[in-house]
Amino acid sequence: MAEARKILTLNAISARGLARLPEHYVVGGDLADPDAILVRSANMHEMEIPTSVCAIGRAGAGTNNIPVKKMSERGLPVFNAPGANANAVKELVIAGMLMGARNLVPALKFVESLDGTDEAMHKATEAGKKQFAGMELPGRTLGVIGLGAIGSHIAEAAIRLGMNVVGYDPAITVDAAWRLPSQVKRAENVDDVLRTADFVTLHVPLLDATRNLINAQRLSLMRSGAVLLNFAREGVVDNAAVIEALDAGKLHAYICDFPANALKGHPKVVALPHLGASTEEAEENCAVMVAEQLTDYLENGNILNS
Ligand code: MLT
Repeated sequence: MAEARKILTLNAISARGLARLPEHYVVGGDLADPDAILVRSANMHEMEIPTSVCAIGRAGAGTNNIPVKKMSERGLPVFNAPGANANAVKELVIAGMLMGARNLVPALKFVESLDGTDEAMHKATEAGKKQFAGMELPGRTLGVIGLGAIGSHIAEAAIRLGMNVVGYDPAITVDAAWRLPSQVKRAENVDDVLRTADFVTLHVPLLDATRNLINAQRLSLMRSGAVLLNFAREGVVDNAAVIEALDAGKLHAYICDFPANALKGHPKVVALPHLGASTEEAEENCAVMVAEQLTDYLENGNILNS
């Protein structure tokens, strides 16, 4: 009889993913001496990882919530699911771009603030139409910093929307390079992207080298009235510098996928609760990908994508 491995889940993991684990595995949120851990967003940095654990699977792309260094010092793999949520993030970034281009959130707030009779409100919409007039996407330039699975999907979608795309990545993978439409102009560095784009979207992991990648100096290079989108990690943008750029009229809007006190209530900020990969499909894709890798490792010792 094959060994009944114990898989500890630290978050709710999609049932379709869990179904990819062998039937005889024991899976649950409260297991002693687990063989492996499946996690989505739970922060594992302060957690005492049981000595029985021989692998961690992260049902998502980034691994910032996992003590990867500690695991590799123990010689143990951490599996993740790069690309499995790329479509979900792409769709939200396109929505974010439209929010910025058409001033959707301030316009909604304006309508909510209207009071009085329907007639009075209709009259007030005349002012709103002027105040929130926007811009269209075709012919505008999107800068994509980070051309991995997500960045290259976004570049492809933007080209279909009639945009020009300029992208930068110091280490693009063969897969992403194949997917990248030939129309995407490759920049030499981050600064060149910032100088030429009307919209800039960030798709880099949070590393020492990318912390505060977008700081006051870099914001000063951006086109006046540009929209900055951050659906990557909060730490890659210096929030205080962004607020200054918004207040100075340098940036038109900052659309991000993280709440932060520094950004709260700012009329030109749209902050979402890390919704990028929160679709049924992406959660399933990530869970399936990581459950398959974990099984292959536990059953056959294979290490793919760790
Ligand atoms: C990821 O790393 O996959 C994303 O940040 C999405 C998430 O974990 O919710």
